Amino acid sequence: MSIAATSILQMPFRELAFRTLRPDDAVAYQRLRVKAITEKDRRFFYINPEEELSQSSGDWRAVCTETCDRAMFGAFVGDKLVGAMSATIWDSDATGKTAYFRAAYVLPEVRHTSITKTLCTMHDNWATEHGCEKAVYAIRSDNTCWIEKQIKNGAKIIADEPMRFADGTTAQTYWLERRLEKLRT
Ligand SMILES: CC(C)(COP(=O)(O)OP(=O)(O)OC[C@H]1O[C@@H](n2cnc3c(N)ncnc32)[C@H](O)[C@@H]1OP(=O)(O)O)[C@@H](O)C(=O)NCCC(=O)NCCS
Repeated sequence: MSIAATSILQMPFRELAFRTLRPDDAVAYQRLRVKAITEKDRRFFYINPEEELSQSSGDWRAVCTETCDRAMFGAFVGDKLVGAMSATIWDSDATGKTAYFRAAYVLPEVRHTSITKTLCTMHDNWATEHGCEKAVYAIRSDNTCWIEKQIKNGAKIIADEPMRFADGTTAQTYWLERRLEKLRT
């Protein structure tokens, strides 16, 4: 049974844990992702939800399996997955030195905490350890708060184009690029 939103916030801080997801996190990740791409925030994900929702359990396990070119990071309160984001080596850069940062989602009731910052640091550490020198990502232009936080953290807008989002709308979208810092401990 899932923990109610209010009780997540009441849990002691020591219950907060971060780690790279594993295949046995697939059901929890699927649950989190379904919420992300079917509820209010679906307008921020440039994916086809039907395609993603029709994935097999094996596909979800694969998404939660770290390989040499991708990993998914999760935040847990107790045993409940409350946030995740992924790092991928971007296949559009043949040098292999660019990370593609995507699928950032944190449950509304635990936003504006250190959770997102820690997940971003895990992403950057993984990417630098895998030889990346920069990260790219696409953010819908009206996701202004997230764009501002990325710019504050050193990202620059490098392009824009219309993209189709999970709510069926098409919106102007910024591509951002950020130089990756050396490994932080
Ligand atoms: C986007 C989302 C994950 C951000 O989470 P949040 O809890 O609302 O974010 P916060 O307000 O805590 O801000 C994130 C923090 O991480 C920091 N951060 C951002 N990028 C960072 C980076 N690359 N390295 C380190 N820290 C970073 C920010 O500066 C901020 O810290 P601050 O509050 O000290 O300034 C969350 O709002 C969400 O799930 N939104 C809906 C889905 C969505 O829009 N996803 C993005 C699709 S592109």
